[in-house]
Amino acid sequence: MITIAIAKGRMQDDAIALLAEADVRLSAESLASRKLALEDESGKYRFIFVKPADVPVYVEHGIADCGIVGRDVLLESEADVLLPLDLGIARCRLVVAAIDPQVIKGAFGMLRVATKYSRIAGAHFGAQGIPVEIISLSGSVELAPALGLADAIVDLVETGRTLRENGLKVAEVITDSTGRLVVNRASYQLKADEIATLTDALERAVRSVETR
Ligand code: PRP
Repeated sequence: MITIAIAKGRMQDDAIALLAEADVRLSAESLASRKLALEDESGKYRFIFVKPADVPVYVEHGIADCGIVGRDVLLESEADVLLPLDLGIARCRLVVAAIDPQVIKGAFGMLRVATKYSRIAGAHFGAQGIPVEIISLSGSVELAPALGLADAIVDLVETGRTLRENGLKVAEVITDSTGRLVVNRASYQLKADEIATLTDALERAVRSVETR
């Protein structure tokens, strides 16, 4: 059996739909349940639903053979996992945003940046030689500038609605992100056939969704 860790939240529905397209299906009963570990209808796959940042942890440690999670999370985690497939789901951008985008270049002294992506944000500003104080938050990051906790944020933008409705503008795009299939290094060898079957089916599903 192959265990697949799926990031709960924004990615979950798209991941389940893509897996169904690849003929890996969860029953309606499973989908309606609140269980965090489920088997697919064929009994070949087990799914565990975990917080996005925990997907690379489960996969790196081999508790899950595979995972489906955003590139943003993988960049932040720097986990040692294999990255075989861009699934093209949950497309978004990782950006720097602020009430006034000029604040990034014009900051006097230390720029205070609130984010869930401390490592990415540190590297981004470090590369530009901009001194920053990273303020690590675990959610609702868009509140920080309006409340005076930070001058800017580094966060994901999908539709742009959360930024807009909290009075923020994009100052810089750091990178794009989509959902990725990641694989544990040992599983890739020990369960080579099963992983190849899954990867091929998902690859076909991605192509068929893209050409629709
Ligand atoms: C992400 C991100 C933004 C929002 C952007 O949060 O952190 O808050 O989505 O989406 P939009 O551009 O379509 O408005 P997510 O839903 O992943 O949850 P979290 O911040 O609570 O972790």
